[in-house]
Amino acid sequence: MFHISNGNPYESEQECMLIGLIDQPEKFSGGLQQLDDAFKGNLTKLVKTGDISAKYKSVSVIHSLGNTPIKRFIFIGLGRSKELTDERLREAVGKASKKIKDLRTGSFSIVLDTFIAGKISAEKAAWTLSEAFIMASYEFPGYKKSNEPDIIINKITVFTNQDKKTIESAVETGWIFGTGVNNARTLVNTPSNLLRPSSMAAYAAEMADEYGIEIELLEKEEIEKLGMGAFLAVNQGSGEPPYMIVLKYQGKEEWADVLGLVGKGITFDTGGYSIKPKDGIVGMKTDMGGAAAVLGAMEVIARLRPDRNVVAVIPATDNMINEKAFKPDDVITSMNGKTIEVLNTDAEGRLVLADAITYAKMHGADRLVDVATLTGGVIIALGLDKTGAITNNDDFYNQVKEASKKTGEFIWRLPYTENDRERVRSSKIADLNNSPGREGHAIMGGAFIGEFVENTPWVHLDIAGTATTDKEYELGPSGATGVMVRTLAMLAVGEKPWE
Ligand code: BES
Ligand code: ZN
Ligand code: ZN
Repeated sequence: MFHISNGNPYESEQECMLIGLIDQPEKFSGGLQQLDDAFKGNLTKLVKTGDISAKYKSVSVIHSLGNTPIKRFIFIGLGRSKELTDERLREAVGKASKKIKDLRTGSFSIVLDTFIAGKISAEKAAWTLSEAFIMASYEFPGYKKSNEPDIIINKITVFTNQDKKTIESAVETGWIFGTGVNNARTLVNTPSNLLRPSSMAAYAAEMADEYGIEIELLEKEEIEKLGMGAFLAVNQGSGEPPYMIVLKYQGKEEWADVLGLVGKGITFDTGGYSIKPKDGIVGMKTDMGGAAAVLGAMEVIARLRPDRNVVAVIPATDNMINEKAFKPDDVITSMNGKTIEVLNTDAEGRLVLADAITYAKMHGADRLVDVATLTGGVIIALGLDKTGAITNNDDFYNQVKEASKKTGEFIWRLPYTENDRERVRSSKIADLNNSPGREGHAIMGGAFIGEFVENTPWVHLDIAGTATTDKEYELGPSGATGVMVRTLAMLAVGEKPWE
């Protein structure tokens, strides 16, 4: 796919060439002067007349009309050098990638050194470019009869004056991160009649096999034996058997110092007997967005093979209704022995996560991140572009926050106090209740999970608002976003997995 070249980019035959333009009128950077010379000074003129703009995110397509061996140039405006950050670069490149996709070309090239500016090193640029490109060109194939076949890009040439090996690793890492995101998006976009708990288990098994990691799939009987009463209660009204999916990546000699990733895998959430209204139920195929994020991250981790240990636990079931389904007022017993009064069967995510957290701890997780499309409340609190976080440990939260800053996936911490813990313990007849009322709704979801985490350092990420989007954006189409794949993977592999 990638070909890294130290040659002169403007002397090679190319269909389409992507160039970054920094807004600094005095001179061209990254070897662009060479191109201006090849264009006999016309590049300068085109910038002056505004036909090519260095304004942030502005895309200009120029045909060389035989003046160079390159057919078309795509210039992407990067704005001012000192304002350029990873995130701004990612979005600008995402925008240009959509243009490249529209051109329906099978190959293109990038002049990497034109993207080195401000805080952006060559490696950073290489990683960001490839990650943004693959994310921005994602499309969910869908099920229409008359789909046009996609043009598959099979060759990307990266021109650079930098060390080829270093750039190659960075480009490949970005590609792996972006692929993890896209695979998670496809899982989330797939409707629940086609993505059942068993299909999610099969997907995980295939991934484990492909990348050589360990998998444990618990079926209903074993789940019963282990006493996962909270998980089983949610599955009670379903014709689909539940699966507890466990993936283990061992990068250290000893199975110690283990990061646990736990993802809510509700393949469809009707709300149960606390049934959702007809508008609220549409889109509930995406209630496994947390599971998809964890699967996407595990794929990245398994491919990059850092020297870390990671266990992923995914409770997979739908939340359906039949005569056996659990009901409001039921009291259930979770795997760790705590009893729960069910006040709302639509607060099912925290129930399945309770047992998954307990199981992750049994597998040696000594710090935990759970990811879940948990509450509508987080959307009311933070909007559709921020993931809500809750934690019991400042240091661990800071690590997750740092990882999210690197990936540009915004997270925001909500308070979590003794009062909140008391509210989830307020049942008169059981240890906990699963729905203490609408006030601080998003916090209550996290606080309930916290009762099972106990003292293990933990971060809860509520992605109800961020897992999907109604609008197309720089890094992808509308639909599933694959949010938190990159942050979880970054947390596990560190900034430069190739070192
Ligand atoms: N899956 C939903 C949360 C959700 C809402 C995700 C909107 C994506 C978009 C979750 O299981 C749920 O229904 N939560 C309830 C909790 C309440 C009953 C305590 C909610 O948010 O209303
Ligand atoms: Zn629900
Ligand atoms: Zn749900």
